[in-house]
Formats: sequence, structure tokens, C-alpha cells
Amino acid sequence: MKKSLKEYFVRAKEEGWALAQFNVSCAEQLQGVVEAGVQSHSPLLIGTSEGDAGFFTLAFAVNLVAFWKKETGLPIFLNFDHGKSFEVLERAAQAGYDALHFDGSRFPLEENVAIAKRVVILARKHRISVVEGEFSEVPGGHSDLHEQEAPVLTDQDYTNSEDAAEFVKKSGVGSLAVMVGTLHGIFKTTHPLNIKRLQEISERGIEFLVLHGGSGTPEQELKEAIQNGVVKINVSTDLRIAFTNTLKETLEENPTEIAPYNILPKSVEAVKRIALSWIEIVGSANKI
Ligand code: G3H
Ligand code: ZN
Repeated sequence: MKKSLKEYFVRAKEEGWALAQFNVSCAEQLQGVVEAGVQSHSPLLIGTSEGDAGFFTLAFAVNLVAFWKKETGLPIFLNFDHGKSFEVLERAAQAGYDALHFDGSRFPLEENVAIAKRVVILARKHRISVVEGEFSEVPGGHSDLHEQEAPVLTDQDYTNSEDAAEFVKKSGVGSLAVMVGTLHGIFKTTHPLNIKRLQEISERGIEFLVLHGGSGTPEQELKEAIQNGVVKINVSTDLRIAFTNTLKETLEENPTEIAPYNILPKSVEAVKRIALSWIEIVGSANKI
């Protein structure tokens, strides 16, 4: 029988590796990630944010992932990332997603817990093995912000371990997005990861810890986070930069070219290279 995403998380935690969640919004980005998975024999986790899914469409994302699963024989899972409402996650569950992330960080805590609980029930109904919750927002934006300093953080911005344990207990989510210093997007500067805080959260017995804002985080810190209980690291900006900047270069170099099959392969290849480097960092190669 095929293993669920949850089973991969359990194994990753036991063995000290993680899955990168590769966020994509088009077939060609997905193709690059799949090629990396094939080359490295890595299970794959694909993510779509509300923006990604708005362009991709839920049905296309689900069917394309199903196509690649059949074509390659790889375990490939699809997570709805940063779903901001129950309704959007309900549509993703109905469309056939394998995992749901309810990002209720902008709701008052009680409301966040109440919606997360409903998402957990929804997931059970659809045999979805992983529901991720979030109450402490990871700052930044999904962009290349190389020119900007990282936003200033205070202790309040970091996930508090006691609150984390309570949130997980009350909501029933198995997986928690934690804020320990990563940022969404790539900035000129970074904050060192607060590994001590991660350890404190980990010690509270929360099943699975998730890092958002993978892009731009120093490799060594990511590895340390994995050794302290992180089983999933989300990556979006890196893949967007690889895809889009390569596309811009290709068009600049070949201004008269109009055939997509001549224009897009370099972007697919660039995404593949980045995905391969992430698979290497998180240690998911040969874990099928
Ligand atoms: O949910 C998506 C991620 O947290 C991606 O963050 O764009 O910094 O890689 P990133
Ligand atoms: Zn995120």
C-alpha cells in the first residue's frame, strides 16, 4: 500500500531528514521539480498558495500531480499552502489535495483554533493525513528583496512554546508552522535561527514542526533545524527566481524566438537545479 504524507513525516523525524515543500504555479515549474525528484529518488511534496492555485487551478494541480505520480512512480504529495479560510481548504480537499495548511495567524487566537478544528474534521472526512496550523506569522513576502534589510524582529514575533502546545492541543492539528527566525522571501540580511526556541517547542511533544520561508536561509541553520524536529521546509521564492529570471534571460538572448518549446526548457532546467540543491540540503534523496 502507498505511504501517506504523514508516514513520510514520521520516518523523516525518526531518521533526521525533512521534505522540502516546493511551491509552484505552473506546469513547467512542476516539471523541473519532478525531474529533480526522479534524478535524486526523492519523495516530493508540492505546494500551491492561494495565488499559485488561482492561476494553476485546483483541478489542474491535482491532475498534473497525479499524472507525474503515474509517469514516474514517485510518491508526490500536494499541499494547499497558507489557506486563509475554511472554504478555500474545503475546495482543495474536494479537489483531491493530500494535505492542508490553515494559516489562521491573522485571526484572533480563539477563532483560529475554531477554524483549524473544522479543517481537521474536514481532513478526516477526505482521508487527508496532514493538517498544518499556524498562529505566529512568518514575516516578509514571497519576493526577491535582495536590496532590503530583513524586518526587525522582537521576542513577540517568535513562536512561544507554551502557546504552541496549547494551540495544537485545542485545534487537533498534527503539524505546526513555527516562527523561529526565517522570513518569507529573500532579504539582504537574515536573522539567525532561534534553535533554542525550536528545541523548546520540540520538547512540548508537537508531532511535526514546519519551517516557512526556506529561501535565503543559510544551509547550516536549516540542517540544524532539521536535527531539532523540523520535518518540512517550504520553498517558493528560490523556485520563482530560478524560473522567472531564466525566462527573462532567455527572452533577452533570443528576442525573435516565439516557440514555448524553445523558450521554456532553460527555466525548467533552472528549477530542477534549485530543487536538487534543496533535496540535498534536507536530505530527502533516496528516501522513497
Ligand atoms: O509557504 C511558502 C514558503 O514559506 C516559502 O517561503 O518564499 O521564502 O521560500 P520562501
Ligand atoms: Zn509560508
